[in-house]
Amino acid sequence: MREKVVLAYSGGLDTSVAIRWLQENYGMDVITLTADVGNEKDIVAIRDKALRVGAIKAAIVDARDLFVHYFVFPALQAGAVYEGEYPLATALARPLIAKLLVDLAKQEGATAVAHGCTGKGNDQVRFDLSIGALAPDIKVIAPVREWGMTRDEEIVYAEKHDIPIPITAASPYSIDQNIWGRSIECGILEDPWLEPPEDAFMWTKSVKDTSDEPRYVEIEFDKGIPVAMDGETLDGVTLITRLGVLAGEHGVGRIDHVENRVVGIKSREIYEAPAAVVLLKAHQALEDMTLSKDQARFKQKVSLEYADMIYGGLWFSSLHQDLAAYIQSSQRFVTGTIRVRLHKGTCQVVGRRAPKALYNRALATYDKGDQFDHSAAIGFIKLWGLQLRTQAQVQLLESKDAPSILPPRVEGLDEKESL
Ligand code: ARG
Repeated sequence: MREKVVLAYSGGLDTSVAIRWLQENYGMDVITLTADVGNEKDIVAIRDKALRVGAIKAAIVDARDLFVHYFVFPALQAGAVYEGEYPLATALARPLIAKLLVDLAKQEGATAVAHGCTGKGNDQVRFDLSIGALAPDIKVIAPVREWGMTRDEEIVYAEKHDIPIPITAASPYSIDQNIWGRSIECGILEDPWLEPPEDAFMWTKSVKDTSDEPRYVEIEFDKGIPVAMDGETLDGVTLITRLGVLAGEHGVGRIDHVENRVVGIKSREIYEAPAAVVLLKAHQALEDMTLSKDQARFKQKVSLEYADMIYGGLWFSSLHQDLAAYIQSSQRFVTGTIRVRLHKGTCQVVGRRAPKALYNRALATYDKGDQFDHSAAIGFIKLWGLQLRTQAQVQLLESKDAPSILPPRVEGLDEKESL
């Protein structure tokens, strides 16, 4: 009996060629798996194509709910944004697809799984690490990383093996998308000096084509999870989808990022993540209302670690479980409603309310009803500034070696212009 391999199949040229290539070079039967994580493709047509090219079985999985609940929402609660820019859409989907591949491989008695990643990117890292953690005994094969064919050679191979080649003019870009965002790479975008052309964008309007009228949206969160939009309770997939369309209409969600890949390359990436941009901002605004200063500061560090962990493919790690425990705990009171204004490419938080808000108007107000104890400030400042005054007196003002209490002067100012 031939051994079996489960291949993550997108329906594109690479993974279609991979079906035949795995049969020829590994002598294995190929079972394909196509997961819908909100990538809006004709999934049934993809399955038919897999079978036509020679897969013995073609599985399709609607994984959108799983993706949102186990991956996207936890990342939103964590405030996970890689290098301050990238909301991690692709990076979040990879461990889910890896899990589905491994589950199917076990179910089918397959000895290997395969994916269509190249040897330059982050996705190979995420797949290989996730599969290795979930099922150390399963072999991982990455045909594209192994075969060393150019695109033209691939097309020749496809023609020879009767593999349908997409007839539409090939997009100049390499695109990956799911419900949390869309990434666009390659072609002219590889020049970091050039502005991305409009044809790179599909989900967001150019600001010049957006409405003059702002659109206000209210997003309700329950323990850090968005549960309703404009007063209507929605499931996660619907909420993200609807909000994405709305924000994209107003030109919100374009990201242009030169990022540091795991393998050491810097790469220029364009993203469209309209729903993610709005939800991350709204969630942050609600945390501003409900977390203490110390919690908020510490959470920033956790967010950074969490984002790096996801980006680097370490989803199935103990570090993740530890960080996630902190994040879950931090969200206990992150419940409430945020109002944002979408207008001309901007998303501005303009209203927030939370039943357990730490914001207290009686303490904050400059009007009547002020309950803050002004006289307590005097003693507080005395102690807060004690070390500052001591150091100034002992080291900075009275010492001849220390010429000034001022921080270093910026270059380019004349002596007479300095403070
Ligand atoms: N740079 C992003 C990341 O590493 C997007 C990768 C997109 N992947 C792709 N195969 N086109 O997560």
